[in-house]
Order: sequence, then C-alpha cells, then structure tokens
Amino acid sequence: MKADRRTFLASLGAGAAGLGASQPQGGEGAAEIGVGLIGCGTRGTALGNALVRLERAGEAVRLVAVCDVYQPRLERAAARFSAAAYREARELIRDPRVKAVVIATPDRLHAPQAIEAVRAGKDVYCEKPLTHWAQFDLLKQLRDEVRRHKAVFQMGTQWCSDPIWERAADQIRRGVIGKVVHVQTGFFRQGDVGERGMPVDDPEARPGAGLDWEAFQGDAPRRPFTVSRFFQWRLYADYSGGPVTDLYPHPLARVLKALGAPLPRRVVAVGGRFLFNGERDVPDTFDLLIEYPQGFTLAVLGTVANGTPLETVIRGSEGTIRLDETFGLQVEPAQGVNRPRTQIVTLRDDAQDHLRNFLECVRTRGKPYADIELGYATQLPLIMAMQSHLEGKVAFYDAEQERIRLA
Ligand SMILES: NC(=O)c1ccc[n+]([C@@H]2O[C@H](COP(=O)([O-])OP(=O)(O)OC[C@H]3O[C@@H](n4cnc5c(N)ncnc54)[C@H](O)[C@@H]3O)[C@@H](O)[C@H]2O)c1
Repeated sequence: MKADRRTFLASLGAGAAGLGASQPQGGEGAAEIGVGLIGCGTRGTALGNALVRLERAGEAVRLVAVCDVYQPRLERAAARFSAAAYREARELIRDPRVKAVVIATPDRLHAPQAIEAVRAGKDVYCEKPLTHWAQFDLLKQLRDEVRRHKAVFQMGTQWCSDPIWERAADQIRRGVIGKVVHVQTGFFRQGDVGERGMPVDDPEARPGAGLDWEAFQGDAPRRPFTVSRFFQWRLYADYSGGPVTDLYPHPLARVLKALGAPLPRRVVAVGGRFLFNGERDVPDTFDLLIEYPQGFTLAVLGTVANGTPLETVIRGSEGTIRLDETFGLQVEPAQGVNRPRTQIVTLRDDAQDHLRNFLECVRTRGKPYADIELGYATQLPLIMAMQSHLEGKVAFYDAEQERIRLA
C-alpha cells in the first residue's frame, strides 16, 4: 500500500511543482488532517488528486477514506488513493480517522451528507450547488447545523479563493465605487458536455450489489433505473437544475462575496430548452434577475448553447468594477470622479487553493473564503429562480420568516 502511494505521489510530482510558489500550510509538525471523500466520480477524483498534490507539497493532510455507491468507481478510487473504501457515506463519516469530509456526490445528496458529517463533529468541504433546487428546507437546516456545531464549512466554488474578490469587497466597503446599483454576471459555454457529455462507464450497468440505486436517489421522486439517469444525472430535473444550479453558483458566489453576501428580496427567471432536446428535462438557457433590499439589482445570464462570454460588472454611483477574464479586476471611477483607476490582477480557478484555504481554517477554526453564510446567500436566489421559472411567477423572500413565496 505504502509503495503504491509513493508511486502515485511521484506521478503527480510534475503537477505539484507549481505549488512551490506558495508556502504549504500546516506543514512541519502540524497534526495531519484525515480526509474522507464521498463521491468518486469526475469531480471527486479531481478533488482527491488535488488533496494528494497538497500532501505532496508538504501539507499535513491525508486522504484516508473514500465512498461511492458504484463499486467500480469505489474500487478505482480506493486503489488510486490507497484509502479505506466505504459503500455508505454514514460509515465513512463514522471513521475516527476522518476529521474532514469532502462531498462530491450528485446535488441531492450534498445537504443530507453534510448535515450528517457536521453532526458527527466533522468539518465539510461541499461541492456546489449546496442543495438540489427543491431542497430549500434542507438548505436552511444545513446552515443552522453548521452554525450550531461551529463546523468549518467551505462551499466548492473555487473561484472564491482568488484574492481579487476579497480586494473587490474591500473597495466596495470603502465606498470606492459609491453606492452599488447594478450587477451583471453569467456563465456561457458551448455544448452540453456537462450533461449529455458525462461519462457512461458501463452501458450495461444495473442496480444490484455493485450499484445502489436507492442511495443514489436520496429524497428524489422514485423512478425506474436507467443508465442515463445514473451516469448522466445532470440531464434530469429530479437530480439537477441545469445551468442555474450547476454553473451559476460560480459567478454568483464570487460577486456576492464582493458584495458582503446579501440576501435577496425577489427573483424572477426565464429559460428553456432552446437547443438541446431529447432525453433532457433541464433548461439549456436560463436568465435570472435578483433585487436586493439594499437597493440594487443583479442579473445572472447564461446558456450552454453559445460560449460568447459576458463581462462581470459591478456598477456603482461613483465607479465600476469590471472583471476581465484576462486582465483581472479593474476598478474605474465614474465620469467626473477624480480617482485613479486600479487594476487587481490574479485570476485563478484552482481547487487546490480552495482546499488549502479549507484545511487552514480546519486548523485555525477560521472562516473559509466560501463559508456557509455565502453558501446560503448563493443557493437561496438560485432555488427561488428555479421556482419562478417552473411556476411562471415572481419569487419573494421573507427574511424574517425565512420563507419563499410565489406570486
Ligand atoms: N466546483 C466545480 O467546478 C465542479 C465541477 C464539476 C462538478 N462539480 C460538482 O460535483 C458534484 C459531482 O459531480 P460529478 O461530475 O463528479 O458527478 P459524477 O456522477 O461523475 O460523480 C458523482 C459520484 O457520486 C456517486 N454517488 C451517487 N450517490 C451517492 C451516495 N449516496 N453516496 C456516495 N456516492 C454516491 C456516484 O456513483 C458517482 O460516482 C456535483 O454536485 C457537481 O455540481 C463541481
């Protein structure tokens, strides 16, 4: 086992080289953090690799356990990471060597598994979206449990670990762009690679000893098993929401981070399947407008049918913050405002940075870059948007009662 692990670590050496620039946290003498990974598909494997690279770079972390309901993926991950294998998330969470849990299962499983983990005293890195679009009560419960147990919780929106968003927040707090009145962001890409493009490991796969269809479905409406529903679950509204919940947590979380994680007053959304049809019941194109009680609007636009990007812009009464995907953030004064133009350049989409930030907070009990409050502020309007779209109504948020009302 040890030799396998060394070989694997060595094979990741080239990828880890880039880490030399930043100091490993909790290196020399720090207590090792045992991590358990739940969900060993595409994202889980990428996060497992990132954890191993961190370990290779001197971080006191070790991936000690993995869990999946599909036996071939479980076996592959257990061998790849030399980790203990569990078929049930509950068993992994109970493993005393597991101090922190990384969750990369389909959306519906995130909140139930994260709640179980924090109740067991574990810290959690949970992939976006924090919940399925029909799980608003679970979103509230998750936030409450994280608060109650004082768990360290990081939402897997890795762009939030780019320091430009802390800097943008600072500029906004200091009034550099005046009163924020309008924000635009979005996610555009060409092709249904994230849905129909999901890999089908075995077209003959069937529920049974090596594939737990019940556990996959969680609290979803019960459906007969199909290979596509299991491997390409992002095509189906029972398990996913399409771009609004799969892609928009990324651009929305980072602007909300800059804006101090406000909660919405009302949300309206439109969208549909305009290009990709067939065995798919989630939209391919989706636009939502959010109004905030602080007095500004936020538009999140996008499609998976065309990749022409939309600039992220935060407009204030005295200036503008623009995100250029090549040049970073630009802070520009409004016409007639006598202030210099500022450029803040670093642009990263790096799960390693995000995991490192999480591990550091596990040690210091600090607040991660994408904590549960930002998670709630991000997921709430996305859930409201899906409800608005499905019902053809406006979704209102009652902040006192913590309720969504459609009218
Ligand atoms: N942050 C990012 O950039 C990013 C990128 C890709 C995916 N993701 C997120 O990661 C999550 C997983 O996406 P993916 O593309 O890896 O999906 P996937 O289908 O490739 O992997 C999910 C895995 O979870 C397993 N699983 C299902 N139910 C389970 C259960 N009850 N217990 C344990 N394992 C279970 C499945 O067998 C599968 O192997 C999604 O929520 C997605 O939104 C995030």
